[in-house]
Amino acid sequence: MFPAASLLAILLLALSIAGSPVEVRNSPITIPIVRRLNTSGGTINLSQHDKARVAAIKDRSASTLNRRAGNIPVINEAVSYIAQVGIGSPATIYDLIVDTGSSNTWLGSGSAYVKTGTSINTSQPVSVGYGSGYFSGTEYTDTLTLGSGLTITNQSIGVASESSGFTGVDGILGIGPLGLTEGTLTNEQTTSIPTVTQNLYNQGKISHIIVGISFEPTTSQKVTNGELTFGGTDATKYSGSIAYTPLTTTQDASHYWGINESIMYGSTTILSTTAGIVDTGTTLIYIATDAYTKYQSATGATLDQVTDLLSISLTQYHALKNLNFNIGKTTYSLTPNAQIWPRSLNTYLGGSSGSIYLVVADIGTPSGQGLDFINGQTFLERFYSVFDTTNSRVGFATTSFTDATTN
Ligand SMILES: *[C@@H]1O[C@H](CO)[C@@H](O)[C@H](O)[C@H]1NC(C)=O
Ligand SMILES: *[C@@H]1O[C@H](CO)[C@@H](O)[C@H](O)[C@H]1NC(C)=O
Ligand SMILES: *[C@@H]1O[C@H](CO)[C@@H](O)[C@H](O)[C@H]1NC(C)=O
Ligand SMILES: *[C@@H]1O[C@H](CO)[C@@H](O)[C@H](O)[C@H]1NC(C)=O
Ligand SMILES: *[C@@H]1O[C@H](CO)[C@@H](O)[C@H](O)[C@H]1NC(C)=O
Repeated sequence: MFPAASLLAILLLALSIAGSPVEVRNSPITIPIVRRLNTSGGTINLSQHDKARVAAIKDRSASTLNRRAGNIPVINEAVSYIAQVGIGSPATIYDLIVDTGSSNTWLGSGSAYVKTGTSINTSQPVSVGYGSGYFSGTEYTDTLTLGSGLTITNQSIGVASESSGFTGVDGILGIGPLGLTEGTLTNEQTTSIPTVTQNLYNQGKISHIIVGISFEPTTSQKVTNGELTFGGTDATKYSGSIAYTPLTTTQDASHYWGINESIMYGSTTILSTTAGIVDTGTTLIYIATDAYTKYQSATGATLDQVTDLLSISLTQYHALKNLNFNIGKTTYSLTPNAQIWPRSLNTYLGGSSGSIYLVVADIGTPSGQGLDFINGQTFLERFYSVFDTTNSRVGFATTSFTDATTN
């Protein structure tokens, strides 16, 4: 079976060959992304935030049920990557979280929706649960602008009448697979909603359904250091070439940007080849409990009760080996420095400034469950990533930050 997304790609290709002449703008569109660590509430419980997200990813239907039952903890976004997106005509600019783990684009958690002549209320109820929050509201279609003046029309936008967990941002720019929008129009459980990336392609603005992402490590609380490219990749942001791996066929990873990989600590395998996902909305790297236990004993780390993160001594840090991710035929190595949380940001997690915390955490279930790892932000800040719907694959390349000592 083809994944739904690739079937759609084939359909769209057929349509664009047979259909009306659309102007194809072959140059990809790049927009900047701000990385923000929310420290306004004092310390951040990173672990609590991430674990709610992990739980929701591992069980989408359960998260919806929990949300309806009011059980999902309300947690503010801890570390977010945010893009500015224009909606309406004339456009109002909204700060939207860039999320590869969900696919609806919505606003209304911060600034109110400013309706213009292009805003059409479809009267369809729409809702999504994220673990770290949820929104529910009404679907609109509207004109959406990316960067300097590139617009698409008739983009589905969720307008939240209710939301939680998204204080300080206006909503989400969902760049996950199309299938994740299924069931989000609550009265049409089997209908999917064309994503922003799909509409860019449908309307001839990009020639491949592909998104390239550049994140960089930082020790600042707020910095514009990321970049999102629709329709291609930005060769100035990576070194060498991009190596691709097919999307995994294993459920539940296959609902997301799922891939197969194995993980080695030095030359010791801690996770045999298995399926997991790449996710811009999860901060740390999560691995199956059996792999985590091996990593913990190999590094000698102890679990810090306050931050809920693994902690090591300076001596243990100097003895750390590379953490090697084997993806396709390529090995991506996280150096010792890439395996630790930026020390200058320790106190924001409630930790002590002299401690060393690891960015590898426990996914909470043993391997073999179909979603055994999440390569989150701390992975993506070291490698350029490419999310390619047209060819059903994910790519990575090294960057000038891969081996950098930043933490
Ligand atoms: C942070 O969250 C984790 C997991 O939910 C919990 O174990 C830990 O006690 C929390 N830490 C603080 C300081 O509240
Ligand atoms: C959209 O229209 C529906 C009725 O068709 C209405 O209930 C809803 O309030 C409208 N949404 C907004 C955000 O105005
Ligand atoms: C607008 O997009 C929706 C899907 O979001 C689609 O059903 C509808 O046909 C589109 N309308 C036009 C005029 O293209
Ligand atoms: C940051 O978190 C605090 C408390 O955790 C919350 O009150 C505040 O609204 C959040 N701010 C932003 C910008 O997300
Ligand atoms: C991924 O791993 C699964 C389980 O080992 C295997 O069935 C599948 O063929 C692998 N490759 C892809 C692209 O899913």
